[in-house]
Amino acid sequence: MAPFPDGLNEQVGHEFGASQQYVAIAVYYDALTLPRLAEHFYRQAVEERNHAMMIVQYLLDADEPITIPGIEAPQTEFADVVEPVRLALEQEKRVTEQISDLAKLARTEGDLVGEQFLHWFLQEQREEISSMAALLTVVERSRDNVMLIEDFLAREVVGDEGADASAPPAAGGAL
Ligand SMILES: [Fe+2]
Ligand SMILES: [Fe+2]
Repeated sequence: MAPFPDGLNEQVGHEFGASQQYVAIAVYYDALTLPRLAEHFYRQAVEERNHAMMIVQYLLDADEPITIPGIEAPQTEFADVVEPVRLALEQEKRVTEQISDLAKLARTEGDLVGEQFLHWFLQEQREEISSMAALLTVVERSRDNVMLIEDFLAREVVGDEGADASAPPAAGGAL
């Protein structure tokens, strides 16, 4: 397998891993009866799953081999209500580096179609870091009065809520 398609296969695993981590965070908040925080991360989990399936669709279209990987167990225990959001922001920053490295690899290989495919993901990462950083600010500010965090999420739209007409098609359809 060429390095770029190989890297995309790896990224499928990173996106599923991110999805699983967000499910774990959503369940943590749900168990604390913080439904807005739970809802936010259930939605993020679906978005990451969709990212994985967009890459799968790209590999199908490009007639490249695809291996659906196993993933590591997510972190399920957290010291307080702030830690999951801090972890989520770190995860988004890490994924941004992964996508940037893939875009550089595509460019090195002269794969302009592959490079162009990743532009949407780079834009998406900018948006996700911005919205997760904003959420971290809110959660840190109101850590001792969590209902204020719930009120904030009930009132404000955080992120694009996955509605994006320019998103690449996902294998089997986006959820
Ligand atoms: Fe993602
Ligand atoms: Fe993300």
